[in-house]
Amino acid sequence: MPESSPRYPASLPVGIVVNGAAVRLEVDARESLLDVLRERLALTGTKKGCDHGQCGACTVHLDGRRVLSCLTLAVQADGRSVTTIEGVAGPGGELHPLQQAFVDHDALQCGFCTPGQVMAGLACIDEGHAGDDDQVREYLSGNLCRCGAYPGIVAAVRAVADRREAG
Ligand code: FES
Ligand code: FES
Repeated sequence: MPESSPRYPASLPVGIVVNGAAVRLEVDARESLLDVLRERLALTGTKKGCDHGQCGACTVHLDGRRVLSCLTLAVQADGRSVTTIEGVAGPGGELHPLQQAFVDHDALQCGFCTPGQVMAGLACIDEGHAGDDDQVREYLSGNLCRCGAYPGIVAAVRAVADRREAG
């Protein structure tokens, strides 16, 4: 931690609701939400790919909207609600329908991008941007997959969106 100065305190208190649980901690004013989630809260499901806003591996939801946690300061989450991939499954550990759809549609290989893809996919469906394959490709274009599992990812998101629309 850097030394304090009157203008720039070394650490700031924040209160964040993470996956439904209230968390209070002191963060460096420059600390990213990604680093706080992974290094301070041991929520390592959210991945650090590029750390520069270019890969989508760090996607989480902030007050229900997707954000890149590597480009979000932890202090920006103060008083807000964060959902990570660890908060997506049911209380008994049962997979969320989108997680199950990723399994069913073979939408992953190494799995490194998968948490970010699932978080972005959930948002894509909630935003109403999963109406057809092209739309899903466009609205998930910020989430890269080095393994090229894109056809399965699109199919999984479309399957859940279709089910939601039907039911
Ligand atoms: Fe955040 Fe790549 S780690 S976009
Ligand atoms: Fe390997 Fe997407 S499954 S990077």
